[in-house]
Amino acid sequence: MIKVGLIGIGRFSNFHLQSIRQLPGVTVTAVADLNPERVESVKGEWGCAGYTDWRRMLEEQELDAVTVLTPEHAHEEPVMAALDAGCHVFVEKPLSIDSAACERMIAAAGKADKLLMVGHVCRFGIRHLEMKRAVDSGALGKLRSIYGRRNNGSKYFPIYKRVDPVYILGIHDIDLMHWLSGSTVTEVFARSTGPADGGVDLQWAMLTFANGVIGVVESSWLVPDGAPAEVDVRMEVVGERGTIHFQEPDDGLSVWGERMSENTPLHDWQPKYGRVSGALVEELHHFYDCVRNNRKSDILLPEDALAAVRVAEAIVQSCKTGLPVKLG
Ligand SMILES: NC(=O)c1ccc[n+]([C@@H]2O[C@H](COP(=O)([O-])OP(=O)(O)OC[C@H]3O[C@@H](n4cnc5c(N)ncnc54)[C@H](O)[C@@H]3O)[C@@H](O)[C@H]2O)c1
Repeated sequence: MIKVGLIGIGRFSNFHLQSIRQLPGVTVTAVADLNPERVESVKGEWGCAGYTDWRRMLEEQELDAVTVLTPEHAHEEPVMAALDAGCHVFVEKPLSIDSAACERMIAAAGKADKLLMVGHVCRFGIRHLEMKRAVDSGALGKLRSIYGRRNNGSKYFPIYKRVDPVYILGIHDIDLMHWLSGSTVTEVFARSTGPADGGVDLQWAMLTFANGVIGVVESSWLVPDGAPAEVDVRMEVVGERGTIHFQEPDDGLSVWGERMSENTPLHDWQPKYGRVSGALVEELHHFYDCVRNNRKSDILLPEDALAAVRVAEAIVQSCKTGLPVKLG
């Protein structure tokens, strides 16, 4: 049995916990969060140990792996401590909001000879995988452009205004664009806007890649409550011989009600007879397969996560200065 501890059990931890529950040979033995009520509730549901101090959890529990789900700016400390305690680490994206911190974590994982895997979950999404296969097969010919939109519900902005949206939303598309193009961003030019009382809720960035591909990353927290889904996600890859695109939600299932209509995303994360499936389950299955077989991942490399954070930093800088930013 692989024994796992979770640090940070907020909104997204529910999906992690549900997914881990379905993985054979993996058990959550402890959780930690600063919020004592949340600790009590997860502890009760999972029958595991609970801590309000993750350092104590690492000292008292014999864990094989730790999942870090703290807010974007608070990943480094628990990641470093978990590696130091001899654990493999799965950390949600972004690895950090600071590329120097990413470098420190990658060096520490190398020194400890432990896995450091970052949750760039879209690499496990069925539609993104089909896009990658189409690109790699040569069916689209030479790539010219990639467009990624990831607009999310405005009701979440009060929580996630804590960091620039590129670290929560755009980071997925930056990573996907590196992965799909097989190239890296060399220059960005970006603009953002936000409400009068502070924060950035909308951002557009134009990217230039080393192989000549150009990209646009569009992110916002402006999808209104009345929209048919909480997310408006699109991606389009254009090549000289073909184009591939998807959008979410699609029209697979539309529910028309008296007050509003809903389009439920069908392909991912929806429970079926009490079980969840989709990208996150596949991603975590891959992590524990690497842990069990003591092997490095060939899908999620921490160096790729660092590359995405470097681009995100350049986007933030470009928004601040109004100028293009070159990456070295
Ligand atoms: N892959 C995805 O699609 C996806 C989706 C949502 C969130 N995420 C990522 O997951 C991570 C967590 O996001 P979330 O939405 O669950 O955030 P959240 O704010 O809902 O939860 C964070 C939790 O961490 C706790 N916390 C904060 N500082 C802590 C500390 N120092 N020690 C222990 N606990 C601490 C908070 O009390 C809270 O319960 C973020 O990196 C986020 O970007 C990824």
